[in-house]
Amino acid sequence: MDSVLVIDFGGQYSQLIARRIRELRVYSELIPYDTDIERIKEKKSCGLILSGSPYSTLSEGKKAPVIDKEIFSLGIPILGICFGMQITARLFGGEISTSQYNEYGKTKIKLNLKSALFKDLKPVETCWMSHKDSVVKIPQGFGIIASTFNLPIAGMEEPGRKIYGIQFHPEVVHTPSGMDILKNFLFDICGCSPTWTMVSIIEKQIEEVKEKVRDGKVICGLSGGVDSSVAAVLVNKAVGDKLTCIFVDHGLLRKGEAGKVIETFRENFRINLIHINAAERFLSKLRGVSDPESKRKIIGKEFIAIFEEEASKIKDANYLVQGTLYSDVIESGTRDAARIKSHHNVGGLPDDMKIKLIEPLRLLFKDEIRKIGIELGLSDEIVWRQPFPGPGLAIRIIGEVTEEKIRILQDADEIVVEEIKRAGLYKKIWQSFAVLPSIKSVGVMGDERTYEYPIIIRAVSSTDAMTADWVRLPHKVLERMSTRIVNEVEGVNRVVYDISSKPPSTIEWE
Ligand code: XMP
Repeated sequence: MDSVLVIDFGGQYSQLIARRIRELRVYSELIPYDTDIERIKEKKSCGLILSGSPYSTLSEGKKAPVIDKEIFSLGIPILGICFGMQITARLFGGEISTSQYNEYGKTKIKLNLKSALFKDLKPVETCWMSHKDSVVKIPQGFGIIASTFNLPIAGMEEPGRKIYGIQFHPEVVHTPSGMDILKNFLFDICGCSPTWTMVSIIEKQIEEVKEKVRDGKVICGLSGGVDSSVAAVLVNKAVGDKLTCIFVDHGLLRKGEAGKVIETFRENFRINLIHINAAERFLSKLRGVSDPESKRKIIGKEFIAIFEEEASKIKDANYLVQGTLYSDVIESGTRDAARIKSHHNVGGLPDDMKIKLIEPLRLLFKDEIRKIGIELGLSDEIVWRQPFPGPGLAIRIIGEVTEEKIRILQDADEIVVEEIKRAGLYKKIWQSFAVLPSIKSVGVMGDERTYEYPIIIRAVSSTDAMTADWVRLPHKVLERMSTRIVNEVEGVNRVVYDISSKPPSTIEWE
């Protein structure tokens, strides 16, 4: 299968470049800039893209990432983007300057349409710039192929050796012809074939899992979320009955969710599913505990204990499915990204489990997993489910978790989700849910004074959960939620909307 490597200098758009290439149906992966040249050769890729970087090619010492110049002698076409263009220019004897022509945002750009990179584009296009440094003198043998009003050298090429550089970002939506430029690079310059399709990914993963498992037995922890669901269905297609899924139901899921998980996997997909209803066990462990971190730890520990108990009953199980995504792989493997997400998933592998891992989603981005889920026949409801924390509603019930509070929160949360869906906002919002605080307030219903819980509505937009903003929900939607919650959920007499962003708040309340 044809592939293009994105050599990652830690730029904020590096992942996006790889995703865009995949959208054009060519497999792409990120590799750190200091990857050994021999490893790069082994990958036998059709093209290389040098990414942007938070660093300057001009900074001295350890901070400035460098790359082995031999990379340009491999006979593989190369496209340098932003920092990638500057490092190319520097290595070939060009000159870079700081701040002489810095630009941020959208700008008009003049293109030389004779360059293969700009085939079928217009002579003047709009592009997105974000740079302090720029190339002020191109290396010998190179030609200028793009310029803006402020920046005489916004693109360069050495077509004989298929080396290209652009100062702007073709991967962001603010460069409207960006995908055409990437297409020209992939298909005309690198000669790639567009073979990375959902069907091909599924087939490849099924083959690999079959090959790995052979006569073994596989177990999979199922949570009902999109990642573990897609992983389970994919592995089931590969190994059929050799797969057993374990669904540890801690009783802290959204209303009706456990039933839907069971129905989907047992009835629709005919997958061996062990459902452990452990609600009582979790509840008793949580009794009297109100500290958020203690609650998390208790749930995580109990979850693993139950999973291990059940897994040990499956004789000769030698493989465990994990829903690791490509973004997890990159985040733990790339030292140069400016931000690294902290992981706090429930579970994790106990060190002493003598079991090998199967990670069928390891190469995939979240949007690809969703497409595969749909291709495999999973419902929209599972495929588009918003992220849900491992400890479930326990961290949305402030303070001690009780059966009554779980019931109140499940009922209120169901209304929030229903109304968000009804307004057509569910897929557009990162997370939307209800929170139950541990206070009561006075209200009046009919002629009677009440003293009940409030419900907090939280709806946030985000791209990676690292930062988030509260969603400006239409007043009509808020109104309907409020009316319904107070009328339909026993024990609630007030509804408030959380208008805090992250930071300084967090998405969850605990
Ligand atoms: P915060 O509240 O830190 O949440 O802004 C960021 C994202 O992580 C989810 N989250 C968790 N997920 N176990 C999980 O598996 C946890 O303990 C946990 N705490 C928060 C949260 O839903 C949001 O998507």
